Amino acid sequence: MKNFPLPRIDKDPELKNFLLPYCRLQPGEVWDDPEGNHKIGCLDATDISIEKLLNNAKAKLAVHDPPYNMIAFKQQDPVNFTNWCKLWIDNTYKMLDENSSLYVWLGADQKNHFEPFGEFILMMKNSGFDSKSFITMRNQRGYGTQKNWMAIRQELLYYTKGNPVFNSENVYTDIPKAVKGYYKEINGNRTENLERSKSDKIRAGNVWIDIQQVFHLREENVNGCFVQKPIKALERIIEVSSNKNDLVLDFFAHSGTTTLAAEKLKRKSISIDIEPIYCEIIIKRLERFRKTGKLGWQNSNPFENEITNCKELKTYLFDKYKITGKK
Ligand SMILES: C[S@@+](CC[C@H](N)C(=O)[O-])C[C@H]1O[C@@H](n2cnc3c(N)ncnc32)[C@H](O)[C@@H]1O
Repeated sequence: MKNFPLPRIDKDPELKNFLLPYCRLQPGEVWDDPEGNHKIGCLDATDISIEKLLNNAKAKLAVHDPPYNMIAFKQQDPVNFTNWCKLWIDNTYKMLDENSSLYVWLGADQKNHFEPFGEFILMMKNSGFDSKSFITMRNQRGYGTQKNWMAIRQELLYYTKGNPVFNSENVYTDIPKAVKGYYKEINGNRTENLERSKSDKIRAGNVWIDIQQVFHLREENVNGCFVQKPIKALERIIEVSSNKNDLVLDFFAHSGTTTLAAEKLKRKSISIDIEPIYCEIIIKRLERFRKTGKLGWQNSNPFENEITNCKELKTYLFDKYKITGKK
């Protein structure tokens, strides 16, 4: 199917209303994976009762990508935003094992003193977590080059609780080592640095330059969503900071990137999103992956069948966006 995208659902309340009846979850409901590996909850990350989803288990890893203060969320004062963050950080702490990892994707508004970055990292000082690394993921495409450095970074904070796994043998990139030029004498022989390496690839380190961001030409793109994180980034995090069958949490699951990466790597997951539409997208994405191996809907969208069968919705999309639909 070609040319059957969907605009950003969050920006079109009318479209959202059309799609809501097709969602399996209402607010407060949870989808249990028939294969027993994942739970998807239409829940609020700040609600203390989400702990019940664990059924007395504990998670080994949490990867959260909250809506940022200044872009995808209601415009908020950074202090209020951080107080709100404290609620889901406390929930995360309770739901994580005594030896576990937490990653948080966080924006920093360069026009406003990098809000809410400063407030957030100060709040984390009293969270019980230890700070571990500040990772930067480099986007391939950026913005704002006329009077500033092109904005291409995504900030990812890494915290730990206790002494979690760190499978460092998995932290190599696909990038071949190219820089030679330092030598060491071993058993009387002069060896060059590339000869001594464990791998011919460079390590990921805390600057990730090898991950393509998600946009409409990527197979993993989920039309209708926005700010989707690349599967490769989630796979890296999950491989390094958990083991097979461990439980992974994502409180802001949106397009289900963490859920899908957990499925691929044989981890269990609990994914939460406050919006029934994104919960439905996560379920559909997982089901589609299991059926076809596909990661997203590059030229189509998660509601392709529903739209095709609803004349009113088809007309709405054509009139407003000139989207023609399934032929
Ligand atoms: C930045 S997106 C996450 C993107 C995700 N990492 C991905 O790869 O698709 C943030 C998501 O958080 C959800 N959200 C906002 N407030 C929430 C809350 N209080 N509890 C749970 N989810 C919330 C939004 O509906 C949105 O889907």
